[in-house]
Amino acid sequence: MNLLEERCRQEIAERLEAGLLRRREARGPARLPRIRIGGRRLVGFASNDYLGLATDPRLARTLARAARRWGVGAGAAATLGGYSEAQAGLEEALARAVGRPRALVFPTGYMANLGLLGAFVPRGRRVYADRLDHASILDAARLAGARLVRYPHGDLHALARLLASAREVAGQSLIVSESVFSMEGDRATLPELVACARSAGAVLAVDDAHGFGVLGPNGGGCLDEGGWGTDDIPLYVATLGKAVGVLGAFVAGSETIIEALAQKARTALFTTALPPALCEAACEALTLVRTESWRRRRLWAHVARFRRGLRERGLPVPNAQGPIQPLVVGAPDRALALSGRLRRAGYYVPAVRPPTVPPGTSRLRVSLSALHEEREIVGLLDVLAASWAAVGGPEP
Ligand SMILES: Cc1ncc(COP(=O)(O)O)c(C=O)c1O
Repeated sequence: MNLLEERCRQEIAERLEAGLLRRREARGPARLPRIRIGGRRLVGFASNDYLGLATDPRLARTLARAARRWGVGAGAAATLGGYSEAQAGLEEALARAVGRPRALVFPTGYMANLGLLGAFVPRGRRVYADRLDHASILDAARLAGARLVRYPHGDLHALARLLASAREVAGQSLIVSESVFSMEGDRATLPELVACARSAGAVLAVDDAHGFGVLGPNGGGCLDEGGWGTDDIPLYVATLGKAVGVLGAFVAGSETIIEALAQKARTALFTTALPPALCEAACEALTLVRTESWRRRRLWAHVARFRRGLRERGLPVPNAQGPIQPLVVGAPDRALALSGRLRRAGYYVPAVRPPTVPPGTSRLRVSLSALHEEREIVGLLDVLAASWAAVGGPEP
């Protein structure tokens, strides 16, 4: 056996022993949030498809029609002929949706963050990231060769102190925060973040992966909700694979900043452009996000219903202000046990464990969709209440 083989075998055994082995289970086709796994139909509370658009038949028809015209792939990187009229149209629609002059599309949110930080953080400069920022932000800072400074989650006094002690050249350090935290479901306080960045002369980037589509009267995310200008939040990132229901991501900002990004972002330059058919589907999804506001209303009603149900059943109510409602149980095996019980009762809520979340905070990340039925939410709450006691609730 070679050495790599031996090391891998050991690592897998250790993960299994610690309850940290990750499993991908192949699901069959079904209309989300219902899913089919292992021949069973379950009600899913796991996806980021908050508005129920990922399996919308109208979008599937648009994708199929567009694929007949364009084919399935872009064929090349954007600067080498892969940039399609469909992608240009999508970028215009995205800029309009968030009230910014221009947007640049990336294949995924992970790549958008790598491209953004790589383009705008000079090597050796500081990137201030919330301790619970997504892995793509932390990886981006490391790849950019930045000095990564992580401030305690949501603690903007600590951030201000760190900024004051560093005395960087104005405009050369970057603060990055999620708007809605992906595993906690709580929100960054943008007014304070904006003020903090301004007084320190730092550039603020907001990753609105879980806010775009969900927040704001038209679903234009935290910018639509708060009316932030380009001087307040110069760099805005959001994904198309969550509430928009498709795949891809974008960075929006001023004309000049986005032009500079298009020149420099390696994850947009050295990669195949988004398939035009997918761009057309995403464009139509954006229209549905804006025009079908009943989806947002229903989602927010579900959020309130779920939280009320937790309270009524004496379960802990998370400090979460949106469709992500995590139930922290502590050790990975307890999260697995709880998830297993829910599954046997017909609900799919996978356990989220380290390193996705900090050690000791394994959880069930319940995520709600506009397409859930109220009886499904009540059903989940009832099974949760029964199982919570059996698994023993959170660790002291
Ligand atoms: C805050 C945040 N940023 C970026 C990403 C990455 O987005 P994508 O799945 O499009 O790569 C995610 C999701 O995984 C996320 O939660």
